[in-house]
Amino acid sequence: MADTIRILVMAGSLRVDSLNKKLARVGAEALTRLGATVDLLDFRDVAMPPYDGDDETASGLPPGAIAFKARLAVAQAFLFVSPEYNNSIPGTFKNAIDWASRGDDHVFDGKIAALMAASPGGAGGMRSLLHLRPVLTSLGVWLVPDQVTVSKAHEAFDEAGQFKVPFYQKQVDGLAVSLLDAARRLG
Ligand SMILES: Cc1cc2nc3c(=O)[nH]c(=O)nc-3n(C[C@H](O)[C@H](O)[C@H](O)COP(=O)(O)O)c2cc1C
Repeated sequence: MADTIRILVMAGSLRVDSLNKKLARVGAEALTRLGATVDLLDFRDVAMPPYDGDDETASGLPPGAIAFKARLAVAQAFLFVSPEYNNSIPGTFKNAIDWASRGDDHVFDGKIAALMAASPGGAGGMRSLLHLRPVLTSLGVWLVPDQVTVSKAHEAFDEAGQFKVPFYQKQVDGLAVSLLDAARRLG
């Protein structure tokens, strides 16, 4: 049953008014409607410094990375929502993934994930997902083939944070179904 699936939803932006946080919230709502147990992560709550191997050797993982890993570990599936910075993944997002990949507990391995992106530009952040996909694959994450990209995202949401037109809502709802279906099959 869908209600047994625990999903960590995260946007790779720190901004309070982040378009990707809005998209993540809509995704979390869609998954919740389908019966999933959703944990919506804000990277401000798990802040961590840039990865430094010397710091890791001296002190282990920083508290933010430990907290992030704990939330990854208990999730069966992930929904990554990525901004696009200079055609790729924002450093905040990549840095968090790099920290979380450390250690012997392999919190990504064998999990299922779906990807979304939002950008004011015409490509909707699609190029960040082209780079995020192989990063996650290298960590053992299974990725659902479909993804959602929201172009002109600064015009896409109303004041309540909902899509102004049904087109994107249908896409997010479809991706949520795909993610839960894949998580059930893998689980
Ligand atoms: C350093 C930087 C690089 C960016 N590069 C791109 C880019 O390559 N493609 C794009 O569509 N938008 C780019 N943008 C614009 C972001 O898509 C826009 O700021 C977006 O709102 C960021 O996501 P957020 O709203 O979730 O914080 C860039 C923004 C910054 C700050």
